[in-house]
Order: sequence, then C-alpha cells, then structure tokens
Amino acid sequence: MKYLFSLLVIFYSYLFLFIASDDPCSGFIYPATAKSFGLIGGKCIFVSTSTLNPLSTCGHLGNTPFTTLSIDSNADNTLISKALVAAGVQNAAIGYTGKGDIWKWDNGDPTTYSNWKDNPNQVHTTPTPLRSTLPPANQRKSVAIVFAVDATLTSANAFTFAQLDLISELVDYMSARGPTEFAIFAYGCTKQDPFTIQYPYFESDYLKVQKMIEDLKNTILNDCIRVNPLDFPSMFNVQENLYYNRYTNSPRPFNSGYISMVYFSSTTNATNIGQARLLYPLSNSSVITVNVGNRSADVSSFTIPYRQNNIKVNSVEDIQNLLPTIDSIIYGSGSSSSSQNFVLNSNRVLATTDTICSFMNASDGFWYEDFECAKRNVLCQYFLPTPEPPPRENPRKDVVDLCDSEYTNYTMFDILDNDRCYKLSVQKKTFADSETTCITDDTLFLHTSKLASILTRDEQIQLDSFAVNQQPEEGMFWFGLKQDPKNTSNWIYINGDPNVLHTWQMIKNG
Ligand SMILES: *[C@@H]1O[C@H](CO)[C@@H](O)[C@H](O)[C@H]1NC(C)=O
Ligand SMILES: *[C@@H]1O[C@H](CO)[C@@H](O)[C@H](O)[C@H]1NC(C)=O
Ligand SMILES: *[C@@H]1O[C@H](CO)[C@@H](O)[C@H](O)[C@H]1NC(C)=O
Ligand SMILES: *[C@@H]1O[C@H](CO)[C@@H](O)[C@H](O)[C@H]1NC(C)=O
Ligand SMILES: *[C@@H]1O[C@H](CO)[C@@H](O)[C@H](O)[C@H]1NC(C)=O
Ligand SMILES: *[C@@H]1O[C@H](CO)[C@@H](O)[C@H](O)[C@H]1NC(C)=O
Repeated sequence: MKYLFSLLVIFYSYLFLFIASDDPCSGFIYPATAKSFGLIGGKCIFVSTSTLNPLSTCGHLGNTPFTTLSIDSNADNTLISKALVAAGVQNAAIGYTGKGDIWKWDNGDPTTYSNWKDNPNQVHTTPTPLRSTLPPANQRKSVAIVFAVDATLTSANAFTFAQLDLISELVDYMSARGPTEFAIFAYGCTKQDPFTIQYPYFESDYLKVQKMIEDLKNTILNDCIRVNPLDFPSMFNVQENLYYNRYTNSPRPFNSGYISMVYFSSTTNATNIGQARLLYPLSNSSVITVNVGNRSADVSSFTIPYRQNNIKVNSVEDIQNLLPTIDSIIYGSGSSSSSQNFVLNSNRVLATTDTICSFMNASDGFWYEDFECAKRNVLCQYFLPTPEPPPRENPRKDVVDLCDSEYTNYTMFDILDNDRCYKLSVQKKTFADSETTCITDDTLFLHTSKLASILTRDEQIQLDSFAVNQQPEEGMFWFGLKQDPKNTSNWIYINGDPNVLHTWQMIKNG
C-alpha cells in the first residue's frame, strides 16, 4: 500500500516537471516565485510573481543566481512587454538604475539601448524632474525656499551659473519629495525693470520654476548691469518685507508652513555685512549662507539658527556637491537658536542622492523612473550555460563510440564528458514497466542499463532537448528517480547514483 502511494507521488511529480519541458528555462525557477517568459534575445527571462524590492530580488527566485534584467534591443523590449501583458502584470522593474546623472545596467551589460517614455532615444538619461507623486502621508513637510544668487561684478560667471544649476537640481530633488515653493533672484545685477525679474513671486509649479531659472540665466548673460559693492543692509530689508513673513497680505505670500532662505556670497565687503540687520528667526525655519571662494567675508552671522548654517565652498565642484547638505539642513532637524560656532552640526543626517529605479510599463513598453524604488514585480534574467566546445576532437570518437552500434543505438553526449549512454524508449510505458525495460532491452550492452539518473544541470538540459528532438509531440519522459520504498522522505536513483539533483527535491516539496 505504501509503495503504491509513493508511485503515485512520483507520477504527479513527473507530470508537474515536464509539462513545460519545451521551455528550456523553466527548470531554473521555483514556480511559486517566478514565471518564465522563456528564451528572449538568447537569455532566459523571468518575472517575479509577487511585488518585491527591485534592488535585491532576483537572486532568490530560483536555484541559480539570476540578475535583474537588462534589455538590448527594441525587438526584445516588445517581446517582454507582450509577455508581461499575457502574464497579467501591469509593470515590472528592470535592472537599470541611476545615481545622480549616472545610469547603468546593474548586471554590467554595456548596451546603450534605452526606451524611456519621455525620450525614447535618450541614452543614460538624467532623472526626469517630477512633481511629487508620493501619497501625502509620505511627503516631506512643505517649505517655501528663497534662493539668492550672487551675480555681482566680482563673482566669477562660473560661480554664478554653478549656483543656478545647483538650484535647478535642488528644485528637481525637493519637488519630487514633497510640496515646495520657490522664489529665486540674482542680486548685484540690475536691469531696467529690476523688480520683476529679480524679485519674483513664489512659484510651486515645476515648469514655472525652471523657467524662472532660465530667465535669470538669460538676464545675467545678456541684459544685466553688474554692480559692486553689494548693498547687504538694503537687500536684507527688502527680503524681510517681500518674502520673510507669514502675513497673508505679504507682497510675496507663501503657503508652506516653513520658509528657508539660501544666500550665496562670493565677494562681500565686511563693512557692508556689519551694517546689515539680521533676519528675525521664524519658528523651525532656517537661513543658510554659502561663502563662495576664499576671498568672501564671513556671512555666517546671517544664518538662522545664528551662526549654525554657514557653508564654505571654494570651487565650482564644491557648489555642485551641495545638494545633500542644503537638502538636509532644510528638511533635517527642527531649529534651535542656541549660538554655535562656524562648523556644521556633525549630527546632521545628510540626504543621499538616492538610487533611482526604473520599470517597464507593460501596456506601452516604455520605461519609467521610480524615485522611490517601490516594491513591484521584478524582471530577471539568466544565460543558459553554453557548453564549451571541446578544444579538439574527442579522441574516444576516433576509436569507437562506446554507445552507438547497430545493436544498441544509444547516444553519447560528448559535451557531458561522462561516459554515459542514453536512449529514449520507443514505446510509452508506465513507470513500473519502464524500470524493467531498461534492464532487459540490451543484453549485449557492456553495463546493465537503468532508467537514467540526472546528476547535473547540463545533463538535464541535454536530455530535455534530446527527448524533445526525438519525440517532439511528447512533453515528458520517465527517468530513474523514485521514492525510496523503505523511507518515503528519501529519493533515490534507481541506478544507485548518489546526490539527487536539488531541483527535483524543491519541486517535489512544492
Ligand atoms: C565696502 O563698501 C562700501 C560701499 O558699500 C564702501 O564705502 C567701503 O569702503 C567698502 N569697504 C571696504 C573695506 O572695501
Ligand atoms: C583661494 O582659492 C584660489 C582658487 O581656488 C586658490 O588658488 C588659492 O590658493 C586660495 N587661497 C588660499 C589662501 O586658500
Ligand atoms: C518645531 O519643531 C519641533 C520639533 O521638530 C516641533 O515639536 C514644534 O511643534 C515645531 N514648532 C512649530 C511652530 O512648528
Ligand atoms: C502605462 O501605459 C499606459 C498606456 O500608455 C498609460 O495609460 C499608463 O498611465 C502607463 N502607466 C504608468 C504607470 O505610467
Ligand atoms: C539501430 O538503428 C538501425 C538503423 O536505424 C536499425 O537498422 C537497427 O535495427 C537499430 N537497432 C536496434 C537494436 O534498435
Ligand atoms: C530517511 O531519509 C531521510 C532523508 O534522506 C533521512 O534524513 C533519514 O535519516 C532517513 N530515515 C531512515 C530511517 O533511514
């Protein structure tokens, strides 16, 4: 009774195993965790059946290490998006990630193919600026930010434009993470109608803010009378009236709960600074100053909290690298107005320039950026092992094929290099019958043959395609694995081979 039962178990296991044996990839995954799309573009492609962290997933979906998917061509991209639709998956992460401006395939694929929604032909795109799409509960506190760019006569153009580029990046980064309002002006640069250009309203529309930055660049380049020295005292008076108050009748009102000011200063005059009145601290709001270049007088006394938020930079590169520092001051800990010296608070947690993930949208096949690297179905890949061609003719072949004669018609697979002979039976048999068939078929044969054991992955691939080639209409064949009649938790090979291949055990249990 017990024995009969174990035969049944074997039967179902085999049915399960070989139903999809025309997909050479299916044997590598755990069916509960991934679905195979078969061979596309020369590699096995899988999608996880559940939503997972896109940065650390593919290694866990099968008994072979996979990598997240890289895509090399439009043809492959189309096949994959169709397979996603067929699998009922709306979108799935691919292995293309960005940090700052650098995008790369995580598996090292050097391909330059890309298929971004916004710019399909763009290679290694920079992050597409987005308004925040986070649910309100996950958004950061809303802040109004005023940037003051130094465009005085003595500021190098390179410094001035580096400040504007940094602001543009900060706008991208901050607006993707929560509601923000920006006002940006350049001081030390006068125009016929300076008020309009230099002291704009707060804007919270992404495109309008980027246009404000472009307008400032054009003004500074083409339409600007640069002045020196800078009049800090009157600048701060204007700031406090225009921006830095919370009254609804303020000339430049803002909606956020908090405000931050960021002042860049390249060449300031100490006398001038000494005459300027400090800004009044507003609750939990910050004023950040950036001393640009080693000839600028210390402007740290203008910061809020007092003397805590001054940054010193010396080069264009320093300015470019300020994003995480400024972001963390504005969104970091609440304010404390205790007097501090010149150094930055070492406890401050810096915002990182996070990894940006990407995913394929099944219905249009385009790639989209995902700033949050949210859990989603993940596409993975695996290259089937291609056996190395033998360096020279197999010497055994010259002498005699140990397997093939008119009396035997067994096949030897040189690439397996295992001295084993294989044959697929002509007739279909039950498992019990086939167990004895193998023994009695060929008495002339040197060794008694048995149902085949399958010891290695290569052997399994070889036999799989061997069986399909010989009898394409059949999806399965018996091989010599069965439950030990004396111990049902043990699986044995009929021919006595040890080491049951791990795959079968996994699937048997599942
Ligand atoms: C600073 O600038 C003021 C004009 O705003 C000027 O009168 C003064 O001489 C300057 N001081 C120095 C040390 O250059
Ligand atoms: C000031 O900065 C300039 C340009 O970066 C550099 O050449 C110079 O050596 C610096 N001077 C001092 C005293 O650090
Ligand atoms: C300022 O921040 C602290 C801690 O972050 C918070 O407890 C307090 O309510 C805030 N004050 C205001 C007026 O928002
Ligand atoms: C996916 O593509 C469809 C069709 O273009 C579009 O309607 C949908 O918004 C896209 N999904 C995402 C997440 O962008
Ligand atoms: C082996 O194949 C040859 C050629 O197809 C055939 O004539 C012969 O009968 C076969 N022998 C056996 C034992 O099947
Ligand atoms: C039965 O097989 C299992 C798995 O190989 C083994 O751990 C166990 O010790 C065996 N039990 C007996 C009684 O041999």
